[in-house]
Amino acid sequence: MLDSAPFSSSPRVKLGLIGCGKAATRHLRIFRELPEVEVLGVSDLNPIKAQKFAEELGASWYTDWREMLERHPEIQVVDVAVPSGLHARVALPVMRDFKKHLLLEKPIALRPEEAQEMVTTAEDLDLKLVVIYQNRFNLPVKLVREALLSGYFGKPVLFSARFYWCRRQDYYDSAAWRGTWALDGGALAQQGAHHVDMLRWLGGEVESVYAQMATRLVDIEAEDILVGVIRFRNGALGTIEATTCARPKDLGAELTILGEKGSARLGGFAMNELVHLSFENGGLPVDEISKLQKNPPDPLGFAHRACLKAALAYLAGGPRDERLCVGREALNSLELIQALYESAERGEAVSFPFEIKKSRLGKGV
Ligand SMILES: NC(=O)c1ccc[n+]([C@@H]2O[C@H](COP(=O)([O-])OP(=O)(O)OC[C@H]3O[C@@H](n4cnc5c(N)ncnc54)[C@H](O)[C@@H]3O)[C@@H](O)[C@H]2O)c1
Repeated sequence: MLDSAPFSSSPRVKLGLIGCGKAATRHLRIFRELPEVEVLGVSDLNPIKAQKFAEELGASWYTDWREMLERHPEIQVVDVAVPSGLHARVALPVMRDFKKHLLLEKPIALRPEEAQEMVTTAEDLDLKLVVIYQNRFNLPVKLVREALLSGYFGKPVLFSARFYWCRRQDYYDSAAWRGTWALDGGALAQQGAHHVDMLRWLGGEVESVYAQMATRLVDIEAEDILVGVIRFRNGALGTIEATTCARPKDLGAELTILGEKGSARLGGFAMNELVHLSFENGGLPVDEISKLQKNPPDPLGFAHRACLKAALAYLAGGPRDERLCVGREALNSLELIQALYESAERGEAVSFPFEIKKSRLGKGV
């Protein structure tokens, strides 16, 4: 087993990337612009993709990520952007055999037991595990999160998230794993992972859920629409509407919070714009609101960049930005996804803690 490479030797985080697909393309663009990271190696089962990434990043390319890590023992952080159902299969040996810190695309894994093993392994080996939930870095999200934590909303009443996006058959046909229960899930686990994470992060622990799902407009195993009701431990209720059935194009994503003393609504394409914020007692300073009302226009994705920047700083030994989704928190978010699927499959409400009996998400990988 190799020793984990020390960070003190260089101010630039030395990184290896596993999976050179769509999500990693965003990472690539951001990494190229961030002086704090140096990508030493990239790997993908598809040599053409790996080679292309390597050329753009000035890195070495591999089709076998183990070879990449053996050839570059100085790599400190491994960025995993393979299909969701394969996260654990890659992340566990990366930690156990190579002792690397992890930057993982969402969701952490598809089965809670796998995610639990990943979290425990990271803790036991004193490694850091960050899961990318970039919407937490939206400026309006920062505003409402801080208002919530400071008690501006008072007693919480409702946390509601909904997204109506458009994914047609050609999207699902673009890779064999998309829309499968074993490796992906449907609108909830793939696109809705962000919205579920937001509900869990802002609303807190969950007591029970009830959901219904259907596959209406595309030919895939998993659902293209799921509607769920959540009861939080703090007494508030929640709703989620997750669908990729909006036609002819994306309609957007919304988050609404109601409390006894105020209300907020975020909208835009990805909860990146403040649509409404008001409090009974006047509330937050107006100039504070105007600064955080909208993400700045940024072709690379403002929140994604902010999230990766904060993750690299933390993985390099710096303090944790509280918006980063770290370790066990990512498991909470996955459990809520699984509970909603479990309820939809059983046709009844599911109370926490629950045993997965019927959910097919991540089964049979
Ligand atoms: N944060 C976000 O907003 C966001 C957006 C899209 C996707 N994602 C997540 O990113 C992950 C990847 O999704 P995607 O859309 O990029 O998929 P993709 O199919 O475009 O890319 C996945 C890549 O992984 C490669 N791969 C598979 N197994 C591998 C292995 N063992 N070693 C090396 N490479 C391997 C595939 O060849 C493929 O190129 C998923 O978990 C998804 O949920 C996150």
